[in-house]
Amino acid sequence: MDTQQSKAKEEAAVDAELAKAIMARCFHPSLIGTEAWEGYVFSDMEIRIKESTDLYGAVLWPSATVLCHFLETNRDKHNLTDQNVIELGAGTGLVSVVSSLLGAKVTSTDLPEVLGNLKCNVMRNTKDRCKYIPLVTELIWGPEVEQRFPRATHCFDYILAADVVYAHPYLEELMDTFDHLCQENTQILWAMRFRLERENCFVDRFRERFQVEELYDLPSLSIKLYRAWRKDKKTKDQR
Ligand SMILES: C[S@@+](CC[C@H](N)C(=O)[O-])C[C@H]1O[C@@H](n2cnc3c(N)ncnc32)[C@H](O)[C@@H]1O
Repeated sequence: MDTQQSKAKEEAAVDAELAKAIMARCFHPSLIGTEAWEGYVFSDMEIRIKESTDLYGAVLWPSATVLCHFLETNRDKHNLTDQNVIELGAGTGLVSVVSSLLGAKVTSTDLPEVLGNLKCNVMRNTKDRCKYIPLVTELIWGPEVEQRFPRATHCFDYILAADVVYAHPYLEELMDTFDHLCQENTQILWAMRFRLERENCFVDRFRERFQVEELYDLPSLSIKLYRAWRKDKKTKDQR
């Protein structure tokens, strides 16, 4: 076996092992009750997520589990305790819940039609378990971000996003939202599921604006996890 083949084999083994560990976080109820939910274990706590199948944001996507796994297993490098965190396109809220359990001050955002289910999942999974009560609020990507989160009064340590890039017409607005919220010391942790060529283009354009590091590459799940920060500024661990 040549070096290239053995490297590919090694990468495939890392992918398989990591994907298995991530997927093992999920469990299903042993009894069918009146309410459908999916269970996850993070931070030694059971998290119950309620989905509803009529909206994109009401379903939990595997990128969210990947990002949560990273956050929990990399607390030495990315300690969320007391950190100001905003999640974009939070959907059913798993990432916001896990970040809150890890000690962050979380602002969980999404479209107005998703907020009811999001609020319900975030509140019931964090109640009496977290240092800070998370805030669940509307944020439609685009110009509204400047009014809702003025840079002078809102400074985030982390922007979290899972599976927010797909075939929707607001990719430019999403890019501008990242740009507005990402200040000098902000780090973006973004889990991205690859489906279509359009998504690769978004990553290329994102790299033009931000410095990007690839943290996970999971071909078996078609997911990559990126860390990013402003090109013109340096983050704490770069100084
Ligand atoms: C594929 S879902 C991912 C949900 C969640 N992050 C996850 O990984 O399970 C995409 C999310 O982006 C939100 N979204 C889509 N377009 C949006 C927009 N223009 N402004 C704000 N949120 C948006 C959707 O409501 C949805 O929650």
